[in-house]
Amino acid sequence: QGAQRLAPRAVAGAPVPPSPLLVSADEYAARRRALAERMPDSVGAVVVFGAREPEADYLSFAQSPDFNYLTGFGEPDAALVMVRRAGGADGFDAVLFVQPRDPAREVWTGRRMGVAGVPAATGLAARPAGALRPVLDSLAAALAAGGRMLAVSAAASQGPEALSPDGQVVAALRRAAPGLRVVSASGAVARLRGTKSAAELARIRRAVDVTVRAQRAAMGLVAPGVNEFEVQALIEYTFRRSGADRPSFATIVGSGPNSTTLHYNADDRVMRAGEVVVMDVGASYGGYAADVTRTLPVSGRFTADQRAVYQLVRDAQAAAERVVAAPGARYAAASDSARATVARGLARLGLIEAPDATYDCGPAPAVAPNASPNGPPNASPGAAPARQCPQAGLYFMHGLGHGIGLEVHDPDQGVPGGVVGPGSAFTIEPGVYVRERLLEDVLPDTPRNRRLAARIGPAVRRYANIGVRIEDDYAVTAAGLEWLSRAPREAAEVEAAMRAGRLAAGRPAARDRALVESYRAGW
Ligand code: GLY
Ligand code: MN
Repeated sequence: QGAQRLAPRAVAGAPVPPSPLLVSADEYAARRRALAERMPDSVGAVVVFGAREPEADYLSFAQSPDFNYLTGFGEPDAALVMVRRAGGADGFDAVLFVQPRDPAREVWTGRRMGVAGVPAATGLAARPAGALRPVLDSLAAALAAGGRMLAVSAAASQGPEALSPDGQVVAALRRAAPGLRVVSASGAVARLRGTKSAAELARIRRAVDVTVRAQRAAMGLVAPGVNEFEVQALIEYTFRRSGADRPSFATIVGSGPNSTTLHYNADDRVMRAGEVVVMDVGASYGGYAADVTRTLPVSGRFTADQRAVYQLVRDAQAAAERVVAAPGARYAAASDSARATVARGLARLGLIEAPDATYDCGPAPAVAPNASPNGPPNASPGAAPARQCPQAGLYFMHGLGHGIGLEVHDPDQGVPGGVVGPGSAFTIEPGVYVRERLLEDVLPDTPRNRRLAARIGPAVRRYANIGVRIEDDYAVTAAGLEWLSRAPREAAEVEAAMRAGRLAAGRPAARDRALVESYRAGW
């Protein structure tokens, strides 16, 4: 009885929290207007689903990026509905559907803004989330009757067998209004997200600064005998104590053979002298992601072989940077330039036969029977020449980079196939990864590949388990290209930072390490 009296009074008297928006309410309103302007006349309404409350309320919640971009509203189970104004008037009316205040639930989740709190905080009209389905049902019927489409941004389904909760809502709307045509709004939102505003770039810069701070701290810790997880912990501790929300993706600290696995993130191996360690890490700050990779020699000095691989990756990155620094540059041209630089370097090291050399990478593409009545007769399947792939791709097998923003892989106007311009924010991250069992596990067994393996085998064994990736973050403004992630990067700078960092940090936590090992000894 006491609890019943207390709850409503505590809620009524609670202070209204300051605006929780990442950027100004005006900017969100401008983004919604920009989306509305990009909707063809055939679209009558737009629905953007926010992320659902995790099933278990002790899991952390992350907002859907499209919804976040258009509203800044950080609570779960919300949706934005924009409906074209009737009677030929321009524009859309927007309503945010949100969880209502619920004192019993808020004991677990903390205070929600509630319907009453939304207009002042976001500039949007609000209704309770329970009203969403009836509103969508009548909207779907009206759109179907009027011959207009519904544009939707929803969490992706896991295939036709497992519709996401958003997908289930859309499927139910289609069943209830059979004539309803539904299109995706995600492409239009992605195009808007691909050009960052000044406020967004400011948050990206901050996320990058925090990430650089963590990279520097890690440079002082890496040493023979240190476990990868100690480095991970220091990096993520540095993120959080610098005010970052969280890592923007699973922290990658991969030493020795793990340096050649692109997304290795188990982070549980003791590093040894004479190895390299790839640290691919990023903070999310104010909702925006950074993504910076450095590769270190575990013992503090690169061997001559490690340095040779490192330098060719660094040269490739510099070549790409030079391309994107030119106004009107295409990101694809930067990628071509980096790839050509890597290929020349790999040929110099004997890891490939020549910069443009290829290998048999698969069966010949199927030829349709009698594809051309006047063409040559189809070869018999056994005689078809194998598909050819560049040898350089055996070592540099990923894209040059990606946009960064609300997501660590974010849309960007220029990446991968467009023109980089003001408002672009992206990474450049070439890499070379010499996997120990490359020749046995990756090369298909053909006569041509056997000859290739004999020629490059010695170099593969020599450089085995050296994986190098160097990744930096960039923004483009009216003033040009900006290199954001100014962590030590040249080989000599990385070595100097490791020396300086070790002196400053003192010896790493040997006692903690002994404790971990003693537990494991008993398993
Ligand atoms: N940093 C991980 C990636 O870009 O895929
Ligand atoms: Mn990346």
